[in-house]
Amino acid sequence: MYATEILEEKRLCNIGSYEERLGGFNWAIAEKEMGWGRGDPLNIGWHLTDRICRLGLARKPALLWEGSDGRERTYTFGDLRLLSNAVAAALSRLGLQPSERVCLFLDRVPELYIAFVGILKMGGIVQPLFSAFGEESLLTRLLDAGTAAVLTQKKHLGKLRRIRARLPALRTIVVVDAEGLALKDGEVALDLDSEPRLERFPLFPATAETPSILHYTSGTTGQPKGAQHVHHSLVSQYLTAKWVLDLRSDDVYWCNADPGWVTGTSYGIIGPWSNGVTQAVLDSGFGADRWYGFIERRRISVWYSAPTAIRLLMREGTQTAKRHDLSSLRHLASVGEPLNPEAVHWSREAFGLPFHDTYWQTETGCIVISNYPGMPVKPGSMGKPFPGIAAAVLDPTTLEPHREPGRVGVIGLRPGWPSMIRGYWNNPDGYAKKFANGWYLTGDRATVDADGYFWFVGRDDDVINTGGHLVGPFEVESALLEHPAVAESAAVAKPHPVNMEVVKAFIALKPGFTPGPDLEIEIMNFVRKRLSPIAMPQEIAFVASLPRTRSGKIVRRVLRAAEWGEPVGDLSTLMED
Ligand code: WTA
Repeated sequence: MYATEILEEKRLCNIGSYEERLGGFNWAIAEKEMGWGRGDPLNIGWHLTDRICRLGLARKPALLWEGSDGRERTYTFGDLRLLSNAVAAALSRLGLQPSERVCLFLDRVPELYIAFVGILKMGGIVQPLFSAFGEESLLTRLLDAGTAAVLTQKKHLGKLRRIRARLPALRTIVVVDAEGLALKDGEVALDLDSEPRLERFPLFPATAETPSILHYTSGTTGQPKGAQHVHHSLVSQYLTAKWVLDLRSDDVYWCNADPGWVTGTSYGIIGPWSNGVTQAVLDSGFGADRWYGFIERRRISVWYSAPTAIRLLMREGTQTAKRHDLSSLRHLASVGEPLNPEAVHWSREAFGLPFHDTYWQTETGCIVISNYPGMPVKPGSMGKPFPGIAAAVLDPTTLEPHREPGRVGVIGLRPGWPSMIRGYWNNPDGYAKKFANGWYLTGDRATVDADGYFWFVGRDDDVINTGGHLVGPFEVESALLEHPAVAESAAVAKPHPVNMEVVKAFIALKPGFTPGPDLEIEIMNFVRKRLSPIAMPQEIAFVASLPRTRSGKIVRRVLRAAEWGEPVGDLSTLMED
């Protein structure tokens, strides 16, 4: 009953009328607003700070930060400008060159946000990685990118020290809280509180196509791929933040994503700051009262979250929300996984506002399909394509758009908008495979209804989406194989009521090892330490052997289907490739 109900939305919003925006759309709308002309230099770092200061907003708060220990800091756009200059200068002094990869391996501390801007200003390529990553996850990504420097905190330094000898390109580790620490060779301290603020820094004259950010994302095969963005992405991120998230000058915006994930950079840094909007950051994990308290204290008006977080809040009931004054909220959006209709209806009960689903990928750099403020919401639907982005559901065999509504196919996007990635690092073949028949193939399946709303059906590959985070089965299997007891393994998605999916591992043991709960826990912890808590299998099934094709490739499809209670499909092809 819920899913067929349409929620009418009548209110004033930045996008105005979606239908009207579709006609004659041109990205030059954003470029003009940003005062940028084709062919001019374009540096995201400058646009997030210096430009905003030139608009007279130097004293406006840019970052309202709260730490897990209750510490609070406020940085204005003026502070951001001077401190990011200081970081850019410090990195240049250390010998870092434009186009070298500089990794941010930090919790969500202010230094992460400031250094992000600073690295772009000196022309470096930012490589943000989750600080929860274990040594193996870190090593794979730093090796692939040939990273020259890593900025980190004392508490994460041990992981880097242990893998350093295997990273020939890594010249410098910069510790942002090095007080009282005995630094080793190739390690330096950078304390932003004592670093002189710099009025001027010779900005790197990036152009639209200069590489800016490298985000690692997981696929079905091989190790994670480095999705390579360029400075022109700013144009898409600026306009989608304005039209989809509806950001306005008096907003206090909260995106609870970590910048190790693309949501945390596109909309946790670039979107709000390029619009001159104040954003709040809470550097601590989930907690319903903690989150509501944060919204209440900071008077958050626009909140960008994710379905898993919403489901966790739902478990606490509307009464927990009602204990807080959340009247500052005026627009809610969500990304990362399918947003179930129940969550949309629940949020109306709890906050008086529906969550607006948005759909996109690391590769697209910006929201590509979404529910717009002011447009009727069909709960459970992802909404409609952003003006200027052509999306279609393609017949999987012909790769032509389905003619009739309601048929399942692959979501294809016509390439060419500013924030689309320009390649995968070191992996031109992997990138080329994402395009066919003039479409960029997302790897997701969906339907479109007669009104042009898209409905998510599922992924078209073996990637596991746990709590909005993509986990590559190959990476988990590689880590499992390093455990002395494991002979072969397969990692697949298992349904989960809160996280949508979790990792389940099927393992055949080497002779001499006996399956049992102790070994199960030992193997789980082994993966958690090497990769991350997210990639850790939540369940392990010990099996005698795994289903394989004739050439020996493990067929995850069969194992996954059993977990989901779905038909296994044609088993006669099982032994073929
Ligand atoms: C999934 C995230 C359903 C999808 C910004 C996509 C979604 C992958 C939605 C990208 C949504 C993202 N509904 N599924 N609204 N948003 N996804 O690269 O499978 O980490 O391809 O970027 O998440 O995940 P990524």
